[in-house]
Amino acid sequence: MNQDVIAVAIDGPAGAGKSTIARAAAAQLGFVYVDTGALYRTIGLAVCRRGIDGTDVPGILATLPEIQVGLTYQDGAQHVLLDGEDVSDAIRTPQISTYASQVSSVPEVRAYLLDLQRDLARRQSVIMDGRDIGTVILPDAKVKIFLTASPEKRAARRCAELREKGQDVTVEGILADMERRDALDASRAVAPLKQAEDAVLVDTSDLTLEQSIEAVLTVIRDKMKGA
Ligand code: DC
Repeated sequence: MNQDVIAVAIDGPAGAGKSTIARAAAAQLGFVYVDTGALYRTIGLAVCRRGIDGTDVPGILATLPEIQVGLTYQDGAQHVLLDGEDVSDAIRTPQISTYASQVSSVPEVRAYLLDLQRDLARRQSVIMDGRDIGTVILPDAKVKIFLTASPEKRAARRCAELREKGQDVTVEGILADMERRDALDASRAVAPLKQAEDAVLVDTSDLTLEQSIEAVLTVIRDKMKGA
């Protein structure tokens, strides 16, 4: 690995604020922010659009060689591409959240996205967020953070975010979806969601967004100083 680039891995359950916090921290440090969940969501969208069920493993495997998942940056913001189409908005629905979680339990899907993620971290300093970044994708990351919050807080935050985008959702519905997704993500055989042994735990339940960003930046700066 290029010695000049630094990798920060941020893992945690759905709705812990990973993407907002990681994006803000990356902007402060001049690192590239990589949202790996968007890649699984893009494959979930491709499967959904083909009318294939999210649990139909042969159908998912047949889809993989037929699609192209890409990632680009516009004005510093990550965009995901499915066969060249920008699907960054289309992947942000509860239905595609479920598809993403389902396809992400298929080992071939994880293998399909592995090199793409590692290449990004090889080329530039990144803050990469996901579920298995510190455990599987970048086990040698200089900084590893496990970001979490209580299920109720996570559901309330995700609900507010989706309502802002005009989606008709309830906290109860999101909480139920989230708990189902967390259970699936944590219990799958391959690369389950779990805290890496050398990850620092940051619980944002009682922190404001600004305090959460500061907490994450403090962990990163301390590790970069060798603390
Ligand atoms: O972070 P997110 O909610 O956008 O992720 C969507 C789904 O993708 C999530 O339920 C689990 C899966 N995922 C994964 O398995 N590994 C990652 N590194 C990122 C996401």
